[in-house]
Order: sequence, then C-alpha cells, then structure tokens
Amino acid sequence: MNYIGSKNKLSTFITSTIEEVVYDDLSQMVVCDLFAGTGIIGRNFKPKAKQIISNDLEYYSFVLNRNYIGNNQTIANRQDFVDQLNAIMPFAGFIYTHYCKGGHGERHYFSDENGKKIDAIRMQIEDWKTKGAINEDLYYFLLASLLESADKVANTASVYGAYLKKLKKSAQKPLILEAADFTTDTKKHRVYNKDSNQLINEIQGDILYLDPPYNARQYGANYHMLNTIARYDWFIPKGKTGLRSYNKSEYSSKRTVAKAFEELLEKAKFNYIFLSYNNEGLLTIDEIKDIMQKHGAYSLASTPYRRFKADKDINRNHIADKTEEYLHILKK
Ligand SMILES: C[S@@+](CC[C@H](N)C(=O)[O-])C[C@H]1O[C@@H](n2cnc3c(N)ncnc32)[C@H](O)[C@@H]1O
Repeated sequence: MNYIGSKNKLSTFITSTIEEVVYDDLSQMVVCDLFAGTGIIGRNFKPKAKQIISNDLEYYSFVLNRNYIGNNQTIANRQDFVDQLNAIMPFAGFIYTHYCKGGHGERHYFSDENGKKIDAIRMQIEDWKTKGAINEDLYYFLLASLLESADKVANTASVYGAYLKKLKKSAQKPLILEAADFTTDTKKHRVYNKDSNQLINEIQGDILYLDPPYNARQYGANYHMLNTIARYDWFIPKGKTGLRSYNKSEYSSKRTVAKAFEELLEKAKFNYIFLSYNNEGLLTIDEIKDIMQKHGAYSLASTPYRRFKADKDINRNHIADKTEEYLHILKK
C-alpha cells in the first residue's frame, strides 16, 4: 500500500541497524512496533523475534496488522472464501451511495462497479461473521484483503483527502480481491488498536520501534475511506470528501508532540528504543536528541532517501524528493 511515511523502502536500513545495535539473540526478544501503519517493520521481525507487539491508533491499520502479525496459523480454505467473494453480485450499499458517481453523485472515490463490489464483499464478510461461518482469523484476513484490494482501485492521487474528477486508469480496472497472505509460526503475537501513550503502560519488552507521524497530516483524515470500509458502520459523511469523525494524534501537532514523546519515553519498559523521524518533522533532530538522552545512551543513524513528494498534481507519484531519514537510538 502506498502509505504516508511507509517504511517499506527503508525497512532494510531500519532492521539491519536495529540488529547491529542490539547484537543479541533476537529469537529471545519481544519487539514492539507501536505506530505500525502497514505493519512492514513488525512483519520483518515476525520470523526473527520471540514475539511481536503491534499497535496503531487507526482501525484499518489494526485490521492489516491483526492479519499480517496476529494471524499465524494456516487458514486451510481461505482461497475458497476469496473466490466466493470475487464471484459475488454487486450491491448498491453505503460506499456506492456516498462515494461513487452513480450513488448520490457527490463523490468519486471508486468506479460505480467497484463501489458496489466493495459493498457486496464487505456485507458478505460481516454476514459470515455474524452467522459464525468464519472465525476471527479468517474475518481479519478477508478484511485486510479487501482493504488492500480496494486501495489499489481508489480514484485518488494517493490519500483519501481528495478524489480525482476523472477515473484514473488504475481505478477503471475491476476490483479483484487478492489474498493478504501472512507468514505462519507457533508464536503468540499481540495486536492492539490503542493510543501509543495509553498502551505503553500495559506492555514491556526488549526492542521498541517508534514511527510516529512527523507532520501535521492526520492519518484518520487522510485514510478515512479505509476506516469506513473496515468499520462499515453508519454515519453521515461530511463535506466534499465525505469525511467521518477521526482521531487527532498528539504526534501531529507542534503544540503537543514534545510532551507526548517525552511521556512515552519515560513510561517505556523496553531496553532499546528506536525512533524513525525525518529531517522535516515537527521535532528537530536536536529536540529529539535532548529528550532521548535524558533517558540513557543516545546515538543516531541516518540514510539518504528519495521519497515521493505529495503534491497537488496527479503525476505526484513521479516526483521524487531527496531527504534524510534518521533512526534515533536509545539504550535505556
Ligand atoms: C509514519 S506512520 C507508520 C508507518 C509504518 N511504520 C509503515 O511502514 O507502514 C505513523 C502511524 O502512526 C499512527 N499513529 C498516529 N498517532 C498515534 C498514536 N497516538 N498512537 C498509535 N498510533 C498512532 C498512524 O495511524 C500511522 O499509521
């Protein structure tokens, strides 16, 4: 998924730096990905660590991580369910009505066909769950598959803060539900959907990886459509974009970020803490260093990074922007 702040392309730098710093047997360690997003860092550590704790404030992210991290037993007949959902009759439901041209006609996030397919698939998944035809593992596997497959055909430049007037090429393609396959093991991972600063009181472990938002863009607003598909609850969509009410993270405000971060470090019961942050964030490198070094031995690793720049224009995915990505390191 094309996700703001995704560490997909930086995951080798991050995992190898963490492994070099810790330099111990990871198979005995609990690793926590506290701001998990797409879950890529937790997924990298899943085969290596004793246990992964994964968390994010947003429900769509919880769904992805509940599948990719939380699921670890083979679901034998999962492809049958995916096939059944792919063959489903489209249905004009909430997504079609509020987010497609053919519905109320106000918004244009999906083609009419894809909007109806999302509705039909989402309703069928819920129906199976209500009737006890699928267990929780399969429920989250199917939901995660739907979120990722719907995101691929969304008619947006990248996030859901706006839609495009004309259906772009990828949005014209029919939605095909693709299986969100996860790795299997015999460990017991834990997945949460909480505020980081609340959850930190309830957990402990060895390695804490922090990747909070670093600017004022709220994830709940930018990915509201994924929460709407994941929750599939009833509400009155607001304004041009059909926004639902959304979480406001303390990490996305200059006024609150330093205090939240300081409090998080104070409470963290982990031996090693790693923080990803880029050089254009709300906190400066020096501010982070000042906060972190109060709590133990501090060091810094960095790598140059060409990130995709968010811009107004539809070609934005082609505009690469040079930046520096930092990994702040604390041995508590
Ligand atoms: C930079 S992204 C993480 C990206 C992730 N590492 C990846 O590679 O996909 C930041 C994440 O922090 C989450 N978030 C923001 N505030 C939070 C909070 N107070 N507690 C937990 N998660 C939060 C956002 O929903 C978002 O998914």
